[in-house]
Amino acid sequence: MSQSEVKRGRRLLFGRALGLTAASVFPLSARLAGSGSEPASGDLVPPWTKTQGHPILTPAYGERSKYEAAVVRVPIPGRVNTLTAASLTPLQDQRGIVTPSGLVFERHHAGVPDIPPERHRLLVHGLVERPLTFTMDDVMRFPSVSRFHFLECSGNSAGEWKRMGSDIQVTHGLLSCCEWTGVPLALILQEAGIDPRAKWLLAEGADAAAMTRSVPLDKALDDALLVYAQNGEMLRPEQGYPLRLLLPGFEGNMNIKWLRRLKLGEQPFMTREETSKYTDLMPDGTARQFTFVMEAKSVIVRPSGGQTVRSRGFVEIQGYAWSGRGRILRLDVSVDGGRTWRAAQLQEPVLSKCLTAFRMPWQWDGEPAVLQSRAVDETGYVQPSRSALLAARGSESYYHYNGIQSWRVASDGSVENVHA
Ligand code: CO
Repeated sequence: MSQSEVKRGRRLLFGRALGLTAASVFPLSARLAGSGSEPASGDLVPPWTKTQGHPILTPAYGERSKYEAAVVRVPIPGRVNTLTAASLTPLQDQRGIVTPSGLVFERHHAGVPDIPPERHRLLVHGLVERPLTFTMDDVMRFPSVSRFHFLECSGNSAGEWKRMGSDIQVTHGLLSCCEWTGVPLALILQEAGIDPRAKWLLAEGADAAAMTRSVPLDKALDDALLVYAQNGEMLRPEQGYPLRLLLPGFEGNMNIKWLRRLKLGEQPFMTREETSKYTDLMPDGTARQFTFVMEAKSVIVRPSGGQTVRSRGFVEIQGYAWSGRGRILRLDVSVDGGRTWRAAQLQEPVLSKCLTAFRMPWQWDGEPAVLQSRAVDETGYVQPSRSALLAARGSESYYHYNGIQSWRVASDGSVENVHA
């Protein structure tokens, strides 16, 4: 039997087992020109099949393939101080909704502290019936929950107000999504007893910046978590080891890492991070304060800036949508710069305040195209176009950019960021 006969026979066997014809099993094969080829006889038994692999390495923490070593976080271009730096998640290489812990974006204000967990303490005080100090053992005795949530810096995509980032890691890389495990904050607060006058709480980190933000008590009692684990293991140091605050859907800066203190009060605490920073300058010269929720947003990941569409014909457009207000209800894709839209398929699971993957089959005819995605969340909120966002917010804003992203595919297949 020739190689092509072997291949054909396998297709038919596979098809018969499922009650399908070969054509319906491989509907894409005719259209995916250049995506596969007949095997050369020498390839059938490659060298790594003829020798033993390496043994299980002990003791060791598993590592990814060395062929994937180029998939890394990168610093925000131009930010050279690595103590107050940020690093960006390589979304262009993410598969599925979970960001690997080693690729979750970072934002530090005074470096990453080295905290022995047995010496860490969480103080709960202020307007409580009894101030309490918790060790990590104390915290971990409470009933735990695990939930998938995105985390997005409110400065994500801030460059897009004026400039254009070259690729999605630059434009959207202050975004990650993990499974988070910890204790509902409400349980800890109830243990201390909440004074009825309390309306806000101050959350403070144990890093040298003593990062502090004010959090509405309603949020603390709703879905806030004291998190100690991420993606199946204890938090990474750069993600707040041994304990951080997680406020699902709220801007990243409020999710205080290395959490050491919660103080309940009647008013917000007016910290540096909510007065001189993390406010939104509006066109009339006033500034919005306490804009906590990250509104619905989406981005096409493949194809995106810096990538190349290899050939005309079938292309699966893939991306992510998310909303700080709940679930993604719908995601529309345009391949003509927003003139016409089609509903994309949402990939399960579709979770609240979590990345939702979407996909859309596309036949590229080789003509220039502008790809866009538009998210709608379960509250009915529709992700705005860039021009609508600028009309409402002006051009002197920095945080909370959630405009529709445009990627232009040129006739040679190259993809670049455009402000359509
Ligand atoms: Co804000």
